[in-house]
Amino acid sequence: MRTYRPYIVGAIGGVLAAAIVPLAGLLDFDASRGQWGITDWFFNTSVQQSITLRSAGLAVPDLDDPAGIRRGAGHYEMVCAACHGSPAGPPEQFADDLVPAPPRLMEQMTNWHPDARVFWTVKHGIKRSAMPAWPTQMRDDEVWDMVAFLTVMAAMPATEYAELAGLEREGCASCHGEAGEGGSGPRLDIQSPGYIADALEAFRQRTRASGTMIAAASRLSDGQIEELSAYYGKLVDAEAGEGGLGAQIAMRGIPERDIAACDSCHGSGRPEFPRLMGQDRDYLVTQLELFNEHGVERGGHHAQIMAQALRVLPQMEVGPLSEAEIEALAGYYGRVPRVTGPHGSTGSP
Ligand code: HEC
Ligand code: HEC
Ligand code: HEC
Repeated sequence: MRTYRPYIVGAIGGVLAAAIVPLAGLLDFDASRGQWGITDWFFNTSVQQSITLRSAGLAVPDLDDPAGIRRGAGHYEMVCAACHGSPAGPPEQFADDLVPAPPRLMEQMTNWHPDARVFWTVKHGIKRSAMPAWPTQMRDDEVWDMVAFLTVMAAMPATEYAELAGLEREGCASCHGEAGEGGSGPRLDIQSPGYIADALEAFRQRTRASGTMIAAASRLSDGQIEELSAYYGKLVDAEAGEGGLGAQIAMRGIPERDIAACDSCHGSGRPEFPRLMGQDRDYLVTQLELFNEHGVERGGHHAQIMAQALRVLPQMEVGPLSEAEIEALAGYYGRVPRVTGPHGSTGSP
C-alpha cells in the first residue's frame, strides 16, 4: 500500500491542478478572438475523437435510393443551407460570424468523411457550436436520407439541386407540390382538412416524430394551420393498386393475429383518419415500419388507435407485420412515385 501513495497523491494533485485552470478563468472562450487557440484545439479534437468513437460500428444502410436523396435535399435547403451553403449558393451572412464557423460543406464533403461519422454529427449535433441535433432522436431513416444527399451534394449541378429541393416553389409546396399532389414529401390532397390540421399540430408540439416536419411546422400559428389544412385537404379519390395479399389484409385484416381490416378505419367513411389510397408507396412503407417498431411512440393525435389496431405491445421484439405484409399493403394502397432522382434516373419504373 505504502509504495502506491506517491502516485495517488500525484494523481490527485494533477487533477486539482487541471481543474484550477478552467476554474480560475484562464481558458479563452472569446468568440471575438477568432478560431484558433489552445482551447479551440482541445475542444475540436475532443469533438472529433468523440464522434469517431461513438460512430464506430454503426451499420450503414443502402444510400443510393433517389427518393431518399431527394428528401435529404428538401430538408437541407429548408434547414442547413443558410449555415453551410449549397449548390445554389453560399451560406447567409450571419453564418460567417459564428465561431466556430459552419464549414462550407460543398468543399468539406469532398474530403474523406465516413458515412457513419456524418450520420452521427447530423443526428446528435455538436455541443458548444451552432450545429443543431436532429429534432427527433426516435428514428434514423430521415438522418440517413440526409447523409445520402450529403455524399452526392458536392458533385451536384445547381440546376439539379434546384429541381430536387423544389427551389422554384415556396414553403410547403417545395416538398408537397403546388396543390399537395406530393413531391419529396407525401401527398396531402387525398386527406381531409381535419386530419391535416391534427398532423400539423402534432408536428408543432413535437409529439409526432419527423425531424423534417417538426422543423417545417414549428412556427406555424393556429390561423396558418387552419388555412393550410383547408387549402391542401381536398379528399381527392384515387384507385387501388395491386390486389393479392395487400387487398386481402386491407379488406379482411389478419383474423388469426387479431389485426382488424385496415379499410374499416382508412376507407372513405372516416375522414378524420388518414386515407391511404393513392399515397406514395415509400411513405406508406416508412409509416408502417414506424408503427410496427415504435407503436404509439410514432406519434400523431390518434396514434394510440393505430397502434392498438396493429396490436403493437411495448414488450414486442418484432413488429406484428412482416416485411412482406408491409410491402403488399403499400403495393395495394400506394402509387408508384414519379420521382426524378439525381442524374435523371427515375425512382421506380
Ligand atoms: C445555425 C447554423 C447551423 C445549422 C442550421 C446547421 N449547422 Fe452543421 N455545423 C454548424 C457548425 C458551426 C459546425 C461546426 C462545428 C464545430 O466545428 O465544432 C457544423 C458542422 C457540421 C458538420 C461536420 C462537418 C465536418 O467536416 O466535420 C456536418 C456534416 C453538418 N454540420 C451538417 C449539417 C446538416 C446536414 C444540417 C441541417 C440538418 C446542419 N449542419 C445545420 C452550424 C450549423
Ligand atoms: C423540406 C420538405 C418539407 C416541407 C418544406 C414541408 N413538408 Fe410536410 N412533410 C415532409 C415529409 C418528408 C413528410 C413525411 C414525414 C414522415 O416521414 O413522418 C411530411 C409530412 C407532412 C404531413 C403528414 C402527412 C400524413 O399523411 O400524415 C403533413 C400534413 C404535412 N407534411 C404538411 C406540411 C405543410 C402544411 C407544410 C408547410 C407549412 C409542410 N408540410 C412543409 C416534407 C416537408
Ligand atoms: C381502428 C382503426 C385503424 C385500423 C384498423 C388501422 N388503422 Fe392505420 N391508422 C389509424 C389512425 C387513427 C391513424 C392516424 C394516427 C395519427 O397520426 O393520428 C392511422 C395511421 C396509419 C398510417 C399513417 C398514414 C399517414 O398518412 O401518415 C398508415 C400507413 C396506416 N395507418 C396503415 C394501416 C394499415 C395498413 C392497417 C391494416 C393492417 C391499418 N392502418 C389499420 C387507425 C387504424
